[in-house]
Amino acid sequence: MSGALLAIRGLEVAYGHIAAVRGVDLEVGPGEFVSVIGANGAGKSSILKALVGVTPLARGSIAFAGQEIGGLPSHRISRLGLALAPEGRGIFRAQTVEENLLLGAYARLRAGDRAVAADVEWTLGLFPRLRERFRHSAGLLSGGEQQMLAIARALVSRPKLLAVDEVSLGLAPAILDQLFAVLSQLNREGLAILLVEQIASRALAVTNRTYVVEQGRITLSGPSRTLAADPRVIEAYLGAPLDDGARSAQEARP
Ligand SMILES: Nc1ncnc2c1ncn2[C@@H]1O[C@H](COP(=O)(O)OP(=O)(O)OP(=O)(O)O)[C@@H](O)[C@H]1O
Ligand SMILES: [Mg+2]
Repeated sequence: MSGALLAIRGLEVAYGHIAAVRGVDLEVGPGEFVSVIGANGAGKSSILKALVGVTPLARGSIAFAGQEIGGLPSHRISRLGLALAPEGRGIFRAQTVEENLLLGAYARLRAGDRAVAADVEWTLGLFPRLRERFRHSAGLLSGGEQQMLAIARALVSRPKLLAVDEVSLGLAPAILDQLFAVLSQLNREGLAILLVEQIASRALAVTNRTYVVEQGRITLSGPSRTLAADPRVIEAYLGAPLDDGARSAQEARP
């Protein structure tokens, strides 16, 4: 895809002798909603960590908004407009919701950017629960609220691409409905999203395109609705074809 917002080529990530990512090519176009699905330990988080500069890449290249970012420190990648809501949420439990959100805008605050307050306000509009909890310690929030905070904190930097790792971890279906509804809304408003998700049915229902990762390699990729009907995906990741609700959500997509 020419004009991709994100283009990962031949990415390899290793931890000592463990090859976690073994030559991954992955693209996200402007305004696209893309998911990466795969089993435990397949290498999904390692792809995202390399993307935002948390884990070094052993080999390969990562182009973002036309610029090579492979090997750049994370604060520079963040400034270019790529934000990650990490697996496990990575929030500061002793700090308040407000303080966590302002940490998401640290670089801009330092640069004297006055729009930060408006951007915090925007994230509170997306997640009204966080407004109610604004002065509470993050550690006192429910799991769903903590996930909202992790996403909101990533959004405060007004990224061009939001990467989200395992939204669903430990959350009840009703909370997931809310979180995925916000992600879909953000995407409709033009935000590109790269979603790593273990619950394949959720990912396939909301995204445009999906990559399947197995043992550090992409083994399948294509439009999410095509993959949702692929017998290999159904057998390995869905157990059964998507139910009516998920299918109609998928069919409602452009
Ligand atoms: N910091 C680390 N040190 C050593 N090995 C690691 C480290 N992080 C990940 N690994 C290994 O790298 C491989 C890929 O892990 P990764 O976390 O990227 O997978 P994942 O697809 O995100 O899994 P999960 O679904 O459990 O989150 C696994 O074999 C894992 O054990
Ligand atoms: Mg992971």
